[in-house]
Amino acid sequence: MASKREIHLGAVPYGTGGPGSHTLWLDPEIPGDASVDVAWFTEIAQLAERGRFDLLFIVDSQFITPYSPPHYLNRLEPLTLLSALATQTSRIGLVGTATTSFNSPFNLVRRLGSLDLISRGRAGWNVVTTGDAGTATNYGLEEHYDYDTRYGRAQEFVELARALWDSYEDDAFVRDRESGVFLDRSKQHVLNHEGEHFKVRGPLNLQRSAQGHPVVFQAGDSDQGRDLGASVGEGIFTHAPDIPAGQAFYDDIKTRARDRFGRNPDHLVVMPGIKVVVGDTDEEAREIEAFNNDRDHTFSAALAEFGRAFGWHDFTQYDLDAPFPAQTLEHGRRSFFTQAKAVTDRAVENGWTLRQTVEATRYFRKSEFVGSPTTVADKLIEWWDARACDGFNVGVDHPANFRRFVDDVVPILQERGVFRADYEATTLRGHLGLPHPVNRHAAARAAGETA
Ligand SMILES: Cc1cc2nc3c(=O)[nH]c(=O)nc-3n(C[C@H](O)[C@H](O)[C@H](O)COP(=O)(O)O)c2cc1C
Repeated sequence: MASKREIHLGAVPYGTGGPGSHTLWLDPEIPGDASVDVAWFTEIAQLAERGRFDLLFIVDSQFITPYSPPHYLNRLEPLTLLSALATQTSRIGLVGTATTSFNSPFNLVRRLGSLDLISRGRAGWNVVTTGDAGTATNYGLEEHYDYDTRYGRAQEFVELARALWDSYEDDAFVRDRESGVFLDRSKQHVLNHEGEHFKVRGPLNLQRSAQGHPVVFQAGDSDQGRDLGASVGEGIFTHAPDIPAGQAFYDDIKTRARDRFGRNPDHLVVMPGIKVVVGDTDEEAREIEAFNNDRDHTFSAALAEFGRAFGWHDFTQYDLDAPFPAQTLEHGRRSFFTQAKAVTDRAVENGWTLRQTVEATRYFRKSEFVGSPTTVADKLIEWWDARACDGFNVGVDHPANFRRFVDDVVPILQERGVFRADYEATTLRGHLGLPHPVNRHAAARAAGETA
């Protein structure tokens, strides 16, 4: 397969509206029940596949309040949804968020492996440790794990997952009617894993898929999160407001991968999530952006949602025009701490009031990817050329806007030779140019080391 560097694209559907999009559902093109309607997701997945996207990414959370965004209030479980989409698509990668904090490894690894087989090698797993601290209370715990435990579990979980996915060597199932041999029993492997957090005997009762293992993505931004991504991630989902911030993250994660973990940095694809607005002209696109920002994210909705990173702390109790209450950072200790700390630091450094801080995060959503199709394509290429990323996760908000991205922006990327004209591979691993993981037992056997 050609090793030419190409832009990678993901589509992230937010149904009736994700964080910061409280009235997206007023768009007449979005069914009021889009977030639980498999037909709506199928339409988006097929559109993204028509645009030759590498993947569709379904985010997830499991703790809500009455102020959670509409899509979060009432949504389908990612792996169940992706299994349905696997039957309605043929090439696009299917990536779902699943937490290592509130899942049992054997169960989750089996579900991900099943998605990988159902989709014939197109599954991906976004490994998260869960930002919403309240999730713990849905799983019989008083509070969320501290960061060291969260990331300790995540590290062990992913290593365990890969070992379980290797339970069978690729040629273990003989299925020979003449000899009556179904399984070569020497090619089924017990794991007997006993680690700090998990104890699993194995084997997994599932063979490997066409891509060997599902692709592992990671999306945590703390020091521990970055180390997890650099050590076991094959894709990194992140956020970056501009090229210098993107470059700093890209350089940090690839350097960690190479220097700390001895990995080839090209085997790790960095994809920031972006908001795109396409118009006939740059002016028209900016007008659409301003209209959507004001309508989709009013100040009161932004204030109500502001506390999410701080463990859903209620900020409506404070004086909006008094200095930002920095002591609230403590509420974020076991939640989205990296994000809560960044917001608090900015507020303190700038001497902002609570109102100014909420406004700043509200307009932080102003995007660089707004303009005519040519302007948007130029910007994407500029980021990618500058190695601020390897590709982008495009948020699917207003459907008409996403259609314009597929129909008007993608062809420009293709003409410029930076994005595939057609799929060249059949697996997600293939689309992303990632190596095929050789079964560890087969490799050991080949090396003459098998016990
Ligand atoms: C781009 C991106 C996407 C994320 N998606 C999810 C998600 O779908 N579900 C979730 O619970 N957490 C998600 N997270 C949260 C992280 O996995 C992590 O738990 C959180 O950011 C707090 O950890 P940190 O301080 O290491 O970033 C996401 C984070 C980023 C940066």
